[in-house]
Amino acid sequence: MATIAANLSRRLEGKVAIITGGASGIGEAAAGLFTKHGAKVIVADITKKAGLGQSFSPDVTYTHCDVSREEDVSAVVDLAMEKHGKLDIMFNNAGVADKENRKAMEYDMEEFQRVVNVNIKGVMHGIKHAARVMVPRKNGCIISTASMAGIVGGMGPYAYTASKHAVIGLTKQGAAEMGRYGIRVNCVSPGPLATDIVLRFFGNSFPMSLSPEELKANWEAFCNKIANLKDHTLRAQDIAEAALYLASEESKFVSGHNVVVDGGNTVVNHDLGLYQ
Ligand SMILES: NC(=O)c1ccc[n+]([C@@H]2O[C@H](COP(=O)([O-])OP(=O)(O)OC[C@H]3O[C@@H](n4cnc5c(N)ncnc54)[C@H](O)[C@@H]3O)[C@@H](O)[C@H]2O)c1
Repeated sequence: MATIAANLSRRLEGKVAIITGGASGIGEAAAGLFTKHGAKVIVADITKKAGLGQSFSPDVTYTHCDVSREEDVSAVVDLAMEKHGKLDIMFNNAGVADKENRKAMEYDMEEFQRVVNVNIKGVMHGIKHAARVMVPRKNGCIISTASMAGIVGGMGPYAYTASKHAVIGLTKQGAAEMGRYGIRVNCVSPGPLATDIVLRFFGNSFPMSLSPEELKANWEAFCNKIANLKDHTLRAQDIAEAALYLASEESKFVSGHNVVVDGGNTVVNHDLGLYQ
């Protein structure tokens, strides 16, 4: 019993992970959780927040990386190999949303391309360069962050919705190619939670006078109101826990899967009011 308990508290012992978009929100929570479970983590993010590297544990290395640039992603994978000699977990989590919710007729196609470059090409860069080092070892797992907006329409703007559907497709394709090498490829789809990406996008829907804390509280209250599963506010830590499951031995026969952490919102419809 003692051994099982010890294993469950160190589920990523000796593993090496890259987390893109790991400087805030879901990625930051995952960096904390993965290191707590024994992993060495490289956080790869575009942010230039001063002193960022020092805010992480010694098991976390911060490196600047724009996932839309293939050479940046390639360099991060090389860094993992130079520093730790292997890469076990690639978490393609970085993402951006359209600046505003434009209707189709008014859509700015440059904005579409910007989102595609980060959310689709960025994930493909991660899959490609993780495969480069994982396939020869016949070992590893790739996780990407999709979204509820990758399952249904109307949960985000155009490019964001399209790009998150694509992440689920890339996940299935990666699983199909790499199963023969023992490499698992999965994604996680969060429901709405109060992180920067969302607060930037929906911030204008709330009074301008709100402080960042009030904005966050208002957004969470709104999310709780529309949630199917009550009595819990979805937070970045909940998505990090799902990523931990996908990264660990507990999911050893799970591949091509989309772990949807939305409290059931994408699979129920309360329009008939049967359970009001
Ligand atoms: N917050 C939500 O409600 C929600 C819901 C579903 C899916 N997601 C997805 O979760 C992922 C993480 O977002 P979050 O909610 O933690 O928001 P966040 O804004 O807190 O984190 C996103 C991170 O990605 C980084 N990033 C942006 N562009 C980058 C680039 N080109 N290269 C490298 N890093 C870049 C940002 O600097 C930031 O640290 C995203 O893919 C997002 O689409 C979020």
